[in-house]
Amino acid sequence: MKDEVQGKFITIEGIEGVGKSTNIAFMTRLLRSAGKEVVVTREPGGTPFAERIRALLVDPDCDPCTPDTELLLMFASRAEHLAGKIWPALERGAWVVCDRFTDATFAYQGAGRGIESGHIGALEAWLQKGLRPHLTILLDADVQIGLERAGKRGELDRFEREELQFFDRVRAGYLDIAQREPERVKVVDASSALARVQEQIGRHLAALLEEADAAD
Ligand SMILES: Nc1ncnc2c1ncn2[C@@H]1O[C@H](COP(=O)(O)OP(=O)(O)OP(=O)(O)O)[C@@H](O)[C@H]1O
Ligand SMILES: [Mg+2]
Repeated sequence: MKDEVQGKFITIEGIEGVGKSTNIAFMTRLLRSAGKEVVVTREPGGTPFAERIRALLVDPDCDPCTPDTELLLMFASRAEHLAGKIWPALERGAWVVCDRFTDATFAYQGAGRGIESGHIGALEAWLQKGLRPHLTILLDADVQIGLERAGKRGELDRFEREELQFFDRVRAGYLDIAQREPERVKVVDASSALARVQEQIGRHLAALLEEADAAD
């Protein structure tokens, strides 16, 4: 690991429209009321340079790029984000709440686009220097539910225009990670009412807060 970090790194994952943005706001409120400094951010993006890469990645008018190019752009954006925002925040003891991270790369570019996970793992090892989220909330719901919720927001981006089978593979990719890493990745049924979703997320955050306080 690079240096031991002081703060906690929390990510929220899931296919389009499952409620990541909605619940990031909830998580941030909860952590701030527990007295934590919270940095809220997202991937791809999070810094001005990385947001420029994001714009390219989600642009529906861009010619399709190869899956390898997409993967490398994701990690180019991540390298900027880590250096410019995530590490500095964690090192000063802030809690970072990030809308998507490397699990999304394994799910979308790996399971979705078919890139060998070994290639993704190699980039992860190189660029993250051992840093992985302390807690990941995986919002899981039927693909139709997520796309329907996302579709209500207006024009679809480059990813949202993929066919249903693509998102089925992405969802399965996410669930695979959760099965392999049950300690880190907590699956929450995103098809239930928001209050029920937030009750479960609240419990996972409370456990992490307790663990962090016990270590102080
Ligand atoms: N549990 C829920 N039940 C019903 N509606 C929900 C629930 N969670 C979120 N929504 C609604 O679904 C829509 C999409 O939610 P949100 O934007 O938070 O999803 P997202 O995962 O951030 O999407 P994207 O991947 O496109 O960024 C919003 O209108 C939100 O209010
Ligand atoms: Mg969102």
